[in-house]
Amino acid sequence: MNNVIENAAARLNPLLRRECRIGLILGSGLGSYAEKIESKRFVEYSELSGFPQSRVEGHKGRFVIGELFDKTVICMQGRFHFYEGYPQSQIALAVRLMKRLGVERLLLTNAAGGVNLNFSPGDLMLISDHINFSGSNPLIGENDDSFGPRFPDQSNVYDRDLRAKVRKMAEDIGIPLREGVYMMFSGPAFESPAEIVFARTVGASAVGMSTVPEAIAAAHCGMKTIGISLITNMAAGIFDQPLSHEEVQQTAARASDRFTKLTDGILEHVF
Ligand code: HPA
Repeated sequence: MNNVIENAAARLNPLLRRECRIGLILGSGLGSYAEKIESKRFVEYSELSGFPQSRVEGHKGRFVIGELFDKTVICMQGRFHFYEGYPQSQIALAVRLMKRLGVERLLLTNAAGGVNLNFSPGDLMLISDHINFSGSNPLIGENDDSFGPRFPDQSNVYDRDLRAKVRKMAEDIGIPLREGVYMMFSGPAFESPAEIVFARTVGASAVGMSTVPEAIAAAHCGMKTIGISLITNMAAGIFDQPLSHEEVQQTAARASDRFTKLTDGILEHVF
């Protein structure tokens, strides 16, 4: 039993009102999607003892519970990052809390740098798999058997059947969708151009600093995950220009209509 999770579950459970099967984690510049949730109930991370706090500009730090398409959802508006100094086991807490609350399907979103040379800023990418190049793992430490096994399988972290449905739905609603492997670097420094050549060589289509710890924790406890990357910039060295967090946020803002439409489609028709 993890007391942090059990205490947080006791605080959030009364706000659910009915079964809540869907979890949503919003990435950099994408947090405003939570404004769409109806009958919102908020719990700040700071109200939950033992929970990390999110401190990145463009990230709020709270759970939002409410209804979308007549389904109850729990949403993290602002996530925790490895580069903020938290062990990945702490980043996994939020996913495990969702599991305790009954969540079965998880939508993970992020802003990412494009590595595949056919991509352009503003593209949306369905994550087919990941490369954990962060140097850590959320399951390091004593295993909690109530969530899953010591050595969990990772061959279908981003659920194959759900991905097929997302692809079909995106085509039906006319949203172009890329698909590829997301490679996690620890950050907070953006990657070097040589690291991006390496990422492409080992099969990555996009790079970022999040998502993988949550996806591993979700797979461990048997949740079905979909991951969506918004390509906010081409990764380092592809264009002759420096990268910045401002560029990431500006592209995210410009792409927000398409991101919203795709996310709506996933929540309404796939989950
Ligand atoms: N690298 C890592 N993380 C990112 C990037 C990038 O180029 N863009 C947005 N998040």
